[in-house]
Amino acid sequence: MAKVSSIFISGFFSNAMAATASIEANVPKLTTSSTAREDRIITLEEVSWHDHARDCWIIIYDRVYDVTDFLEEHPGGADILLEYAGREASVAFRGCGHSAQAIRALDRFFIGELPMHERIFRKPGGFRLNDLPE
Ligand code: HEM
Repeated sequence: MAKVSSIFISGFFSNAMAATASIEANVPKLTTSSTAREDRIITLEEVSWHDHARDCWIIIYDRVYDVTDFLEEHPGGADILLEYAGREASVAFRGCGHSAQAIRALDRFFIGELPMHERIFRKPGGFRLNDLPE
């Protein structure tokens, strides 16, 4: 189920986008240091296997985070993170109005990024968060 929904979401957005804008213009600058480590490519399918409390990966803005050790630490609670275990969580992350500190904290958990063809945001013509209603 996780695999199907993740792939569906990615497909939906990628079909809907026009290929015009630059990659980095589409998303907020999340970290200063993660770019140097963006060498591990992780597919949606691989992420979908890490979908439980002892092994929990989530995707935010096409980057993959291993939040297993963060579950009990998360100020919003473990349960809400587990709802997105193995899945795409960008809109939920943004919708909660996370602070700049929370955005910086993402870097601690970064493990890789999606291949270009599976991305929603960080690709030519990618989805712009500003297009979403508040
Ligand atoms: C690695 C990913 C995440 C990190 C590092 C993170 C970090 C944080 C931090 C530091 C806070 C405290 C408030 C703030 O500074 O903004 C917070 C609150 C919160 N987070 Fe996350 N978060 C993550 C993912 C998510 C996701 C995917 C959701 C899904 C909806 C979520 C939902 C919430 C909620 C609802 C709160 C508010 C708690 C409250 O004010 O009572 N978080 N998060």
